[in-house]
Amino acid sequence: MKVLVMNCSPVRNGATAEIVNIVSDCLKEKYDVRSICIDDFDISFCKGCRNCHNTAKCIQDDDVVKIIQQYEWADIIISVSPSYWADIPGQFKAFIDRCTPWCNTHDPHATISSGKKGYSIALRTGPSIRECSRVIESIEHFYGHLEIECCDSLGLCSVEYKEAVEQRKNEIIKFCDKI
Ligand SMILES: Cc1cc2nc3c(=O)[nH]c(=O)nc-3n(C[C@H](O)[C@H](O)[C@H](O)COP(=O)(O)O)c2cc1C
Repeated sequence: MKVLVMNCSPVRNGATAEIVNIVSDCLKEKYDVRSICIDDFDISFCKGCRNCHNTAKCIQDDDVVKIIQQYEWADIIISVSPSYWADIPGQFKAFIDRCTPWCNTHDPHATISSGKKGYSIALRTGPSIRECSRVIESIEHFYGHLEIECCDSLGLCSVEYKEAVEQRKNEIIKFCDKI
């Protein structure tokens, strides 16, 4: 099985990246694992033109197809996202908006192969899990429209910098054991 772990934060070496590393290390014992960071890709904003509703293609040429190729490669997709202002970071939202050509609410639409499983991990600095749930909801809404099965999620509160992730390592490993 092939696993894609995506750092949905624009910070390449922060708390989210640290979680991506723990998840990747843990899962590479049993799966073929790749990790990517949203910040390594050039993503244009969706212009809302809806051309893709008729063509299943975006009029813009950016790196979204490169990320979708990684999705296509994977059997399991794990999105790790911090809360920025109580939701996913703008870069990740821009990616999701740009996935409208793959959205199953209009026909024709582009597709990725069926049978993929999706997991979500949300982190935030504040103490309430509700905000993590909101981030997870955004990710799962996206998975749903790409027909990626939502399998499980983990919310981690009280995490700001990567140093705080070390103390949560057992929780993250326990989550990975279920994947
Ligand atoms: C622009 C910005 C907005 C943030 N907004 C929130 C927020 O609304 N609630 C919260 O609990 N943490 C918030 N945080 C904190 C991040 O969720 C937390 O620091 C997380 O660990 C960041 O991971 P990263 O450095 O890998 O992106 C915010 C951080 C940034 C940079």
